[in-house]
Amino acid sequence: MRAEIVSMSADRLDEEALLRAGRILKEGGLVAFPTETVYGLGGNALDSRASIKIYAAKGRPSDNPLIVHIADIDKLSLIVSEVPEGARILADKFWPGPLTMILPKSEIVPKETTGGLDSVAVRFPSDPVAQALIKAAGGFVAAPSANTSGRPSPTTAQHVEEDLGDAIDMIIDGGQVGIGLESTIVDFTEAVPVVLRPGYISLDMLKETLGEVRMDQGLLKADSKVRPKAPGMKYRHYAPKADLSIVEGPIDSVVEMINSFAARAEAAGGQVGIIATDETMDRYPIGVVKSIGSRQEEETIAHHLYEVLREFDQCKVSAIYSEAFYTPRMGQAIMNRLLKAAGHKIIKVQEEQ
Ligand code: TXA
Ligand code: MG
Repeated sequence: MRAEIVSMSADRLDEEALLRAGRILKEGGLVAFPTETVYGLGGNALDSRASIKIYAAKGRPSDNPLIVHIADIDKLSLIVSEVPEGARILADKFWPGPLTMILPKSEIVPKETTGGLDSVAVRFPSDPVAQALIKAAGGFVAAPSANTSGRPSPTTAQHVEEDLGDAIDMIIDGGQVGIGLESTIVDFTEAVPVVLRPGYISLDMLKETLGEVRMDQGLLKADSKVRPKAPGMKYRHYAPKADLSIVEGPIDSVVEMINSFAARAEAAGGQVGIIATDETMDRYPIGVVKSIGSRQEEETIAHHLYEVLREFDQCKVSAIYSEAFYTPRMGQAIMNRLLKAAGHKIIKVQEEQ
């Protein structure tokens, strides 16, 4: 079976296709759809067989829980047993939007959807196509990112087709996503809310709204003895096929170091891939050089990260070197994904003496 692909956009919803997509989901099938963060692989969240199908299609371990997407705030109380005050405040401020909250689950959410946990991850996306699909499906769509497990998350329908075209019923093509990195996850099952995955909504924005919020200890260091609490964050992830390393330090020294790796590879008859920015692109004379975006507009870096990682899978490169992107607002989220893609391989360079 090859997935049927239908195109639509926020201002041109295809009501007939949405009706069909909704029916597929109600009958236990799988439909991939755009959201403002990345494409999701949707199944009926209240149907344990649909969740099992999602794990199989992605090749994902079944202890890694799914996010339940809603499109109406009144539906929240049906799938959670309690909404703490802080969660209500965040919902008011950031929903619909790129925020997922972990809350105690109600009886109607099957354990297959939550990877065996008593809590459930809930998100109300802002993308109008996503909202229309969720409503057509009856209100509760479980959706992980629509990539094969371990690969970069999809930011276009073509990425979804590459990974899952043979494994699902329908792909809704809504064009390229806006943000390009997965939602921020905040866990409300502990006394103080904890960020389990950084995203477009930063720790500072959450602190401004809530006061006390902390970062999951398991996310802070590669060698941390503490395991990340979101099961999905413990896997190597987003990884391109060639070996990726991050080169970190003052930018002139970084450029020089990457150029020396590129020269060495060329002398050995090969070539490296280089992840640069609009500002530095022209400073790399050899190798396959791709700009990820501009440091002046950090959203562009987030937006292109997964696309650039996927593009390198089409190139013959022996290794990939990337600059580091500790940008002011989204740097935490960008570097979290890049470090995971690199298996935490960082080369630190010093200022020249
Ligand atoms: O932006 C997004 O969140 C996208 C779009 C499609 O909405 N979805 C997404 O889903 O990124 P996924 O499955 O790729 O990532 C979900 C993450 C995983 O790391 C998972 O372990 C964690 O959320 N998670 C889900 N339920 C959880 C729970 N009850 N407790 C702790 N972590 C949970
Ligand atoms: Mg994912």
